[in-house]
Amino acid sequence: MDSHEINKHAGGLLSALLVTMGLGIFADVLFHIEKPAKPGYELAGAAEPVAVAAVADAGEPLPVLMAKADAKRGEGYAKACATCHSFDKGGAVKVGPPLYGVVNRPVASMAGFQYSETLTKMGGQWSFENINKFIANPKGYAAGTKMGYAGEKDPQHRADIEAYLRSMSDSPAPLPN
Ligand code: HEC
Repeated sequence: MDSHEINKHAGGLLSALLVTMGLGIFADVLFHIEKPAKPGYELAGAAEPVAVAAVADAGEPLPVLMAKADAKRGEGYAKACATCHSFDKGGAVKVGPPLYGVVNRPVASMAGFQYSETLTKMGGQWSFENINKFIANPKGYAAGTKMGYAGEKDPQHRADIEAYLRSMSDSPAPLPN
Protein backbone atom coordinates (compact mmCIF):
# COMPACT_ATOMS: atom_id res chain seq x y z
CA MET A 1 0.00 0.00 0.00
CA ASP A 2 1.74 3.23 -1.08
CA SER A 3 1.12 6.53 0.58
CA HIS A 4 -1.41 7.48 -2.11
CA GLU A 5 -3.45 4.40 -1.24
CA ILE A 6 -3.23 5.13 2.48
CA ASN A 7 -4.51 8.62 1.82
CA LYS A 8 -7.42 7.22 -0.16
CA HIS A 9 -8.33 4.88 2.69
CA ALA A 10 -7.94 7.59 5.27
CA GLY A 11 -10.10 9.83 3.15
CA GLY A 12 -12.73 7.15 2.88
CA LEU A 13 -12.71 6.65 6.62
CA LEU A 14 -13.01 10.38 7.19
CA SER A 15 -16.00 10.73 4.89
CA ALA A 16 -17.63 7.75 6.56
CA LEU A 17 -17.09 9.48 9.91
CA LEU A 18 -18.49 12.75 8.61
CA VAL A 19 -21.55 11.03 7.22
CA THR A 20 -22.13 9.28 10.55
CA MET A 21 -21.78 12.55 12.45
CA GLY A 22 -24.02 14.25 9.93
CA LEU A 23 -26.65 11.59 10.45
CA GLY A 24 -26.35 12.04 14.18
CA ILE A 25 -26.97 15.78 13.89
CA PHE A 26 -29.79 15.16 11.46
CA ALA A 27 -31.39 12.73 13.89
CA ASP A 28 -30.97 15.33 16.62
CA VAL A 29 -32.70 17.94 14.51
CA LEU A 30 -35.53 15.55 13.72
CA PHE A 31 -35.91 14.69 17.40
CA HIS A 32 -36.02 18.33 18.42
CA ILE A 33 -38.48 19.32 15.75
CA GLU A 34 -40.74 16.46 16.72
CA LYS A 35 -41.05 17.33 20.43
CA PRO A 36 -42.98 20.60 20.30
CA ALA A 37 -45.18 19.15 17.55
CA LYS A 38 -46.66 16.79 20.15
CA PRO A 39 -49.61 18.58 21.73
CA GLY A 40 -48.73 19.34 25.34
CA TYR A 41 -52.19 18.62 26.68
CA GLU A 42 -52.03 15.00 25.61
CA LEU A 43 -51.13 13.92 29.12
CA ALA A 44 -52.53 10.38 28.91
CA GLY A 45 -49.85 8.06 30.19
CA ALA A 46 -47.45 11.00 30.54
CA ALA A 47 -45.16 9.35 28.01
CA GLU A 48 -43.66 12.73 27.11
CA PRO A 49 -42.32 14.24 30.33
CA VAL A 50 -40.35 16.85 28.37
CA ALA A 51 -43.46 18.22 26.69
CA VAL A 52 -45.37 18.24 29.99
CA ALA A 53 -42.59 20.21 31.71
CA ALA A 54 -42.60 22.73 28.86
CA VAL A 55 -46.33 23.31 29.31
CA ALA A 56 -45.97 23.74 33.08
CA ASP A 57 -43.19 26.29 32.51
CA ALA A 58 -45.22 28.31 30.06
CA GLY A 59 -47.92 28.54 32.73
CA GLU A 60 -51.52 29.63 32.42
CA PRO A 61 -52.24 33.35 32.12
CA LEU A 62 -53.41 35.09 35.29
CA PRO A 63 -57.00 35.69 34.06
CA VAL A 64 -57.38 31.92 33.53
CA LEU A 65 -56.00 31.19 37.00
CA MET A 66 -58.20 33.90 38.54
CA ALA A 67 -61.30 32.51 36.82
CA LYS A 68 -60.86 29.24 38.74
CA ALA A 69 -59.48 30.83 41.91
CA ASP A 70 -61.19 30.37 45.25
CA ALA A 71 -61.23 33.12 47.89
CA LYS A 72 -61.81 30.62 50.70
CA ARG A 73 -58.72 28.63 49.69
CA GLY A 74 -56.88 31.94 49.33
CA GLU A 75 -57.77 32.91 52.88
CA GLY A 76 -55.96 29.76 54.00
CA TYR A 77 -52.87 30.54 51.93
CA ALA A 78 -52.97 34.17 53.12
CA LYS A 79 -52.25 33.00 56.67
CA ALA A 80 -48.61 33.30 55.54
CA CYS A 81 -49.25 37.02 54.93
CA ALA A 82 -51.33 37.58 58.07
CA THR A 83 -48.31 37.49 60.38
CA CYS A 84 -47.38 40.84 58.83
CA HIS A 85 -50.62 42.17 57.33
CA SER A 86 -54.14 42.86 58.53
CA PHE A 87 -56.85 42.15 55.94
CA ASP A 88 -59.73 43.58 57.97
CA LYS A 89 -61.54 46.82 57.22
CA GLY A 90 -59.91 49.57 59.25
CA GLY A 91 -57.12 47.14 60.14
CA ALA A 92 -53.99 48.46 61.79
CA VAL A 93 -50.42 48.62 60.61
CA LYS A 94 -48.52 45.49 61.62
CA VAL A 95 -45.08 44.63 60.23
CA GLY A 96 -46.58 45.59 56.88
CA PRO A 97 -49.37 47.99 55.82
CA PRO A 98 -53.04 46.91 56.14
CA LEU A 99 -54.28 45.23 52.95
CA TYR A 100 -58.07 45.71 53.07
CA GLY A 101 -59.02 47.07 49.62
CA VAL A 102 -55.47 46.80 48.27
CA VAL A 103 -56.53 45.81 44.73
CA ASN A 104 -56.46 48.98 42.57
CA ARG A 105 -55.17 51.01 45.53
CA PRO A 106 -52.27 53.38 44.82
CA VAL A 107 -48.92 51.78 45.74
CA ALA A 108 -47.51 52.83 49.13
CA SER A 109 -50.56 54.90 50.07
CA MET A 110 -51.38 53.85 53.64
CA ALA A 111 -50.83 56.74 56.04
CA GLY A 112 -49.01 55.69 59.16
CA PHE A 113 -46.84 53.12 57.45
CA GLN A 114 -43.20 53.83 56.71
CA TYR A 115 -42.72 52.36 53.22
CA SER A 116 -39.34 51.59 51.69
CA GLU A 117 -37.95 54.03 49.16
CA THR A 118 -38.54 51.37 46.51
CA LEU A 119 -42.31 51.28 47.03
CA THR A 120 -42.57 55.02 47.67
CA LYS A 121 -41.02 55.71 44.28
CA MET A 122 -42.82 52.95 42.39
CA GLY A 123 -46.00 54.87 41.60
CA GLY A 124 -49.09 53.37 39.97
CA GLN A 125 -51.67 51.10 41.55
CA TRP A 126 -51.73 47.53 42.81
CA SER A 127 -53.37 45.54 40.01
CA PHE A 128 -53.98 41.78 39.96
CA GLU A 129 -51.02 41.54 37.56
CA ASN A 130 -48.45 43.39 39.63
CA ILE A 131 -49.57 41.96 42.98
CA ASN A 132 -49.12 38.55 41.36
CA LYS A 133 -45.55 39.40 40.36
CA PHE A 134 -44.77 41.05 43.71
CA ILE A 135 -45.92 38.15 45.89
CA ALA A 136 -44.25 35.58 43.59
CA ASN A 137 -40.86 37.13 44.32
CA PRO A 138 -41.02 40.38 46.36
CA LYS A 139 -37.32 41.25 46.11
CA GLY A 140 -37.14 40.20 42.46
CA TYR A 141 -40.07 42.45 41.55
CA ALA A 142 -39.21 45.37 43.84
CA ALA A 143 -35.50 45.29 44.74
CA GLY A 144 -35.04 47.02 48.10
CA THR A 145 -38.56 46.30 49.40
CA LYS A 146 -38.94 45.88 53.15
CA MET A 147 -41.32 42.98 52.62
CA GLY A 148 -39.38 40.09 54.14
CA TYR A 149 -41.34 37.33 52.48
CA ALA A 150 -39.76 34.65 50.28
CA GLY A 151 -42.64 34.52 47.80
CA GLU A 152 -45.42 32.10 46.86
CA LYS A 153 -44.14 29.99 43.98
CA ASP A 154 -47.41 28.25 43.05
CA PRO A 155 -49.33 30.37 40.47
CA GLN A 156 -52.73 28.93 41.49
CA HIS A 157 -52.05 29.62 45.17
CA ARG A 158 -51.21 33.23 44.22
CA ALA A 159 -54.44 33.50 42.24
CA ASP A 160 -56.37 32.12 45.23
CA ILE A 161 -54.69 34.68 47.52
CA GLU A 162 -55.65 37.41 45.06
CA ALA A 163 -59.26 36.18 45.00
CA TYR A 164 -59.22 36.58 48.78
CA LEU A 165 -57.61 40.05 48.57
CA ARG A 166 -60.28 41.01 46.01
CA SER A 167 -63.05 39.88 48.36
CA MET A 168 -61.64 41.99 51.20
CA SER A 169 -62.96 45.26 49.78
CA ASP A 170 -66.07 47.46 49.85
CA SER A 171 -66.34 47.05 46.07
CA PRO A 172 -64.40 44.06 44.71
CA ALA A 173 -62.49 44.94 41.53
CA PRO A 174 -63.57 43.28 38.27
CA LEU A 175 -61.63 40.09 37.54
CA PRO A 176 -58.76 40.56 35.07
CA ASN A 177 -59.32 39.51 31.45
C1 HEC B 1 -42.56 39.17 56.96
C2 HEC B 1 -43.62 40.12 56.82
C3 HEC B 1 -44.46 40.08 55.56
C4 HEC B 1 -45.10 39.01 54.99
C5 HEC B 1 -45.08 37.55 55.42
C6 HEC B 1 -45.84 39.53 53.85
N1 HEC B 1 -45.65 40.87 53.74
FE1 HEC B 1 -46.48 42.12 52.35
N2 HEC B 1 -45.44 43.68 53.09
C7 HEC B 1 -44.59 43.63 54.20
C8 HEC B 1 -43.94 44.91 54.34
C9 HEC B 1 -42.93 45.29 55.43
C10 HEC B 1 -44.42 45.73 53.30
C11 HEC B 1 -43.96 47.13 52.93
C12 HEC B 1 -42.91 46.95 51.85
C13 HEC B 1 -42.07 48.19 51.52
O1 HEC B 1 -42.37 49.28 52.02
O2 HEC B 1 -41.13 48.00 50.75
C14 HEC B 1 -45.37 44.93 52.53
C15 HEC B 1 -46.09 45.40 51.45
C16 HEC B 1 -47.06 44.67 50.77
C17 HEC B 1 -47.91 45.20 49.72
C18 HEC B 1 -47.92 46.64 49.22
C19 HEC B 1 -49.00 47.40 49.99
C20 HEC B 1 -49.06 48.88 49.75
O3 HEC B 1 -49.78 49.56 50.50
O4 HEC B 1 -48.42 49.40 48.80
C21 HEC B 1 -48.72 44.17 49.30
C22 HEC B 1 -49.76 44.21 48.22
C23 HEC B 1 -48.37 43.02 50.12
N3 HEC B 1 -47.37 43.36 50.99
C24 HEC B 1 -48.99 41.80 50.01
C25 HEC B 1 -48.58 40.65 50.72
C26 HEC B 1 -49.20 39.37 50.55
C27 HEC B 1 -50.39 39.08 49.66
C28 HEC B 1 -48.50 38.50 51.35
C29 HEC B 1 -48.68 37.00 51.49
C30 HEC B 1 -48.67 36.24 50.27
C31 HEC B 1 -47.50 39.27 52.06
N4 HEC B 1 -47.59 40.57 51.64
C32 HEC B 1 -46.63 38.77 53.01
C33 HEC B 1 -44.39 42.55 55.03
C34 HEC B 1 -44.82 41.25 54.76
